[in-house]
Amino acid sequence: MIEVKDLSKRYGDRLAVNAISFKAQPGEIVGLLGPNGAGKTTTMRMLTGFMPPTSGSAAIGGFDVVEDSFEARSRVGYLPERVPLYPDMTTEGYVTFWAKLRGVRQPAQAARAVLERLHLDDRSKTLVRNLSKGMRQRLGLAQALVHNPPVIILDEPTIGIDPQQVIEVRETIAALRQSHTVLISTHILSEAEQICDRVIIINQGKIVAQGKPGDLRKKLNAANLESVFLQMVNKDKRA
Ligand SMILES: Nc1ncnc2c1ncn2[C@@H]1O[C@H](COP(=O)(O)OP(=O)(O)O)[C@@H](O)[C@H]1O
Ligand SMILES: [Mg+2]
Repeated sequence: MIEVKDLSKRYGDRLAVNAISFKAQPGEIVGLLGPNGAGKTTTMRMLTGFMPPTSGSAAIGGFDVVEDSFEARSRVGYLPERVPLYPDMTTEGYVTFWAKLRGVRQPAQAARAVLERLHLDDRSKTLVRNLSKGMRQRLGLAQALVHNPPVIILDEPTIGIDPQQVIEVRETIAALRQSHTVLISTHILSEAEQICDRVIIINQGKIVAQGKPGDLRKKLNAANLESVFLQMVNKDKRA
């Protein structure tokens, strides 16, 4: 479970995240939807222990991300905006490396299992440098899942990959719902509508609306967010 209370982050005089609060439960895919610069990545970095909040708090599985950082981090899988990949490792070597770092008992076995789950098992001996963008993104997902964390945090997981791969990645994420709490960020309205059970709309660091995917467009209009909304729809057409 993810619990966020009045979480804020200030960079100099810019308030990137402004007192946001929300919860995400097991079995739920929660979307963080907002335009560029809304504060999605900053929020996720705080939840995953990469940077401390300026104020407020966040907990993963009941463990505070600052006070109990180690316990919190061990319960979360994180796919960052830009996945750090090592081009000279094999696919299997890369995932095994992460499994070891995270203290997984049988790292090679865990790596093989997660590669199979992400349909990368036929690429296990392929060097990371030779993978397509979509496969790299799935490898990033494998890295986030290899220690079987209860909470999964994915930062714009479908950005920059081709449409066929987008479908596969979205299907993979949808399947995670059964056994995990999933938080996913996106600036694509239709993506949020398609894969999320609940969507939190953020703009300029603040939660401006939230609800079920079916009510989103109405809520955006009611909150006078047509301009933000239009920007997202236009990006949608390109995606
Ligand atoms: N390391 C940083 N230093 C200063 N400002 C930052 C930093 N990272 C992000 N910002 C600013 O914080 C705001 C939120 O950024 P970000 O969390 O990356 O938004 P999103 O992921 O929704 O696009 C933006 O105005 C961005 O320019
Ligand atoms: Mg971002």
